[in-house]
Amino acid sequence: MIRRGSPKSAAAQGASSNGAGGGPSFGQAPAEVPAELDRTKIPAHVACVMDGNGRWAAQRGLPRTEGHIAGEEALFNVVNGALEIGVRWLTVYAFSTENWRRPPDEVRFLMNFNETLLSRRRDELHRRGVRIRFAGRPDRRVPRRVQRAMDEATALTEGDRTMTLTLAFNYGGRAEIIDAVRELVADGVAANKVNERAIASRMYFPDMPDPDLVVRTSGEFRISNFLLWELAYSELMFSDLLWPDFRSANLYEAVIEYQRRTRRYGGVS
Ligand code: FPP
Repeated sequence: MIRRGSPKSAAAQGASSNGAGGGPSFGQAPAEVPAELDRTKIPAHVACVMDGNGRWAAQRGLPRTEGHIAGEEALFNVVNGALEIGVRWLTVYAFSTENWRRPPDEVRFLMNFNETLLSRRRDELHRRGVRIRFAGRPDRRVPRRVQRAMDEATALTEGDRTMTLTLAFNYGGRAEIIDAVRELVADGVAANKVNERAIASRMYFPDMPDPDLVVRTSGEFRISNFLLWELAYSELMFSDLLWPDFRSANLYEAVIEYQRRTRRYGGVS
């Protein structure tokens, strides 16, 4: 379990508007990398459930949407931190297949926010070698201009390989498995040929390695339909921080804890 942080922690972790690693960066610079973090054992793929935006806003008497705005700052500080330590794949849960049940104003906000966030961030992500991808079901409820912004960001960064940032958007783990099974059936795969490889190769991004480390914020101990197939052997970390307070320093803490664990994949160590 990652240590409990105070609401002040985010502000205390670096207030510079210039990022490290040369060149302009996303808001706050990442925190200094602790000496105990072993740079030879960086998880290749980190996935985050960015939970607690609404509560963060409520604690301040603000509308929930302000929590999402603050969540963007946290997200890009974590992107910065991930780049700093050489994480190759970062996947974040931005909008689930269940999030359509939220009040229409909040859904509308999150759709528009996705679009504006992409137009604000995509060039910098591209400059820093970050490939942007979206995992999730295409959906007619996603406005066309939002879809266009997603397609443009994907196309712009297609050749970037320093890190792949996957935004799980209209994503559901069960929906992904259902979609893979539908493809198996459509491909006429015989029952005795259905195996892990046949399913894995029909996931949204077969080239994406399974997450090594999953972090969920806000003190909730759930997976909430996130990457159900891919999480089979991931190390899970839960932080009491609300997502808008989460920063690169907290990512580093999670990575240090990950490095202390022994992964056995069902075998013995
Ligand atoms: C969960 O917190 C958070 C979300 C559903 C959205 C996460 C979005 C961002 C961090 C900003 C980036 C956004 C996009 C669209 C790319 P919650 O609202 O469930 O919080 P609560 O559990 O406290 O109510």
